Amino acid sequence: MSRPPEGFASRVVRWQASHGRSSLPWQNTRDPYRVWLSEVMLQQTQVSTVLGYYARFLARFPDVTALAAAHTDDVMGLWSGLGYYSRARHLHRCAQEVVARFGGRFPETAAQLQSLPGIGRSTAAAIAAFCFHERSAILDGNVKRVLTRVLGYGEDLAMAANERRLWEMAEQLLPEQPSDMPAYTQALMDLGATVCLPRRAQCEACPVAGDCAARRAGEPLAYPVKSRKLQRSSATLWLLWCVNPQGQVWLLKRPARGIWAGLFCLPVFETEADLVAACPEAVQGEHGAAFKHVLTHRDLHLHPVRVVTPTGPVGEGRWVGAGDWPALGLPAPIRSLLAGERG
Ligand code: ADE
Repeated sequence: MSRPPEGFASRVVRWQASHGRSSLPWQNTRDPYRVWLSEVMLQQTQVSTVLGYYARFLARFPDVTALAAAHTDDVMGLWSGLGYYSRARHLHRCAQEVVARFGGRFPETAAQLQSLPGIGRSTAAAIAAFCFHERSAILDGNVKRVLTRVLGYGEDLAMAANERRLWEMAEQLLPEQPSDMPAYTQALMDLGATVCLPRRAQCEACPVAGDCAARRAGEPLAYPVKSRKLQRSSATLWLLWCVNPQGQVWLLKRPARGIWAGLFCLPVFETEADLVAACPEAVQGEHGAAFKHVLTHRDLHLHPVRVVTPTGPVGEGRWVGAGDWPALGLPAPIRSLLAGERG
């Protein structure tokens, strides 16, 4: 890998002014509500698709307070067709947290923004850069491509340590001037979306082609490197945490194959609807904070729902007293949940 190119930030900032996108409806504003909404919609969806949804969403929910107060069905209805519906649920929960935790004003640092539902590191950095000029690096899929090519960074991004190093390098490339952060951040997005494409690197249109290690080596398309083998998958699981008035918890023994094979566990469901079908009282249950559990090849996003019920859910299992479950074989995240070590 080569040294970070001199003047990288200033070159892309200048390019942005003349060649970048400048009239998208979420640009030219520092309103974090608008920027956040656009970034979440753009996470897995193209600009051309987002435009209409963005306008309708803003017309219906003009600010974070309106969104927080909305009925979930209305939010989901406006999202309908955009896909990846967990984004919509997180969006709604995020608005509610902004109201509850921050008095209806979005926090102004990437670190605080990242503590909100549905806002990952890159989205938090984008909001902080666009709205508050924080010097914080974004690294979504497009930007990974731009930076690995410029830097000639050929390490396998399927390994977390390599991705962490790329984040560090992305931080080192940031412009000195905080006021350059919006143009710089947009420039990286625009280079990735319009010039430095996955199967076609239009180097003749690139402001940093002269410094690009991948181009010098004659193979811009060789980056980024991400092995399939190590590619992680992720899954969302809903955990039904039934407690009876005597304080016992409903546990079942997992099947001999598959995740957490043979361990005692809360009933697990792939969707919230399945969970509610097994235990209708869960509609009024307490939705605990979702948490991530990292397995070797898979990230699990766990959503606990706690319900006090005398009857227990439909399906197998039994009540286990508070003095008894600690001795059973339980998956680590379930144990810590039952022990009250989460949320
Ligand atoms: N993709 C993600 N964020 C974007 C933005 N702000 N503008 C255009 N495309 C994007």
